[in-house]
Amino acid sequence: MKEELQRLRAEAEQALAQISRADELEPFRVEYLGRKGRFTSLMRGLGQAPADQRPELGKLANEIKGRLEQAFDLRQEQLSGAEVEVVKFPDLSLPGRRHPAGADHPVTRVMTEVCAIFVGMGFAVVEGPDVETDFYNFEALNIPPHHPARAMHDTFYVGEGRLLRTHTSPMQIRAMEQARPPLRMIAPGKAYRCDSDITHTPMFHQVEGFLVDRKVTFADLKGVLSAFISRMFDGKTPIRFRPSFFPFTEPSAEVDIGCVICETKGCRVCKQTGWLEILGAGMIDPEVFAKVDYDPEQYSGFAFGLGIERVAMLRYGINDIRLFYENDLRFLRQF
Ligand code: FA5
Repeated sequence: MKEELQRLRAEAEQALAQISRADELEPFRVEYLGRKGRFTSLMRGLGQAPADQRPELGKLANEIKGRLEQAFDLRQEQLSGAEVEVVKFPDLSLPGRRHPAGADHPVTRVMTEVCAIFVGMGFAVVEGPDVETDFYNFEALNIPPHHPARAMHDTFYVGEGRLLRTHTSPMQIRAMEQARPPLRMIAPGKAYRCDSDITHTPMFHQVEGFLVDRKVTFADLKGVLSAFISRMFDGKTPIRFRPSFFPFTEPSAEVDIGCVICETKGCRVCKQTGWLEILGAGMIDPEVFAKVDYDPEQYSGFAFGLGIERVAMLRYGINDIRLFYENDLRFLRQF
């Protein structure tokens, strides 16, 4: 019986050592260590052994079984580790992965360029929240509740007196609250309006600019904007200042540049006028100064709000503003 046990042990150890794949482990376990396996049936035969030898044989059988089980577990561990390694091993025959280089979105490019031009003229850059309060977006800008100008803004309200800013002009108030003149700042960022057609998107970008000091005049505004437009475009693009109205500037103007798509002949984009509006501007209204405690007798200033997508359309000859936000790679790859 003892020899039989030792023989089975040697045989099992040899069989285990020859196992090289994880899927061979289970048949081994069934054959040697399973409930109907060879070890179990040998141990069942212990009952026929002479009574005085039984304890010793039982001990030996248990010892051998324990060791075999240990060896089995170890082999299992080794082989499962080996398999993970096989999976991890790189398949050198696979084609390489491509990492196409990304590029700035055309709107980002134009935004960067616009900011660089104003920074070059000495304007500092400030940023503020997209979710605004009614106070900053409207009231402090001389647009009280029920003012008809509110209707023109197609506002997205988000509840609790908050809204998505409809323009970057609230940054005039936030900046003026925190600093005293002289001020020369631009505030780039997103604005939102419930509006969509070939020249309007629900989310768009503006750059707000404002300058406050003693004796600032409309001529300063015209000078700064003309310098900007001639740097941004080729210097030959025609521009015009058209009288307009904003509750927070007086007098106010809108600035158009000649439509570069049709070269001012008239097309779908410029609605047959030959001109495209790119910004609104004017002299800061004394009512706005009153809201931030600036003395309008001492200070005057100008402000403007520029639509970045419109500039990008003109810059790249794009005839539908919505193309910027469709994420069509055939469009984006051209930049
Ligand atoms: C304003 O938003 C004023 N806050 C501008 C301003 C600032 C005036 C400071 C005076 C002083 P307006 O609604 O006209 O004005 O928009 C300014 C520019 O933003 C437009 O000329 C246009 O270029 C752009 N714009 C407006 N709505 C959209 C839209 N839905 N999609 C894309 N661009 C837009």
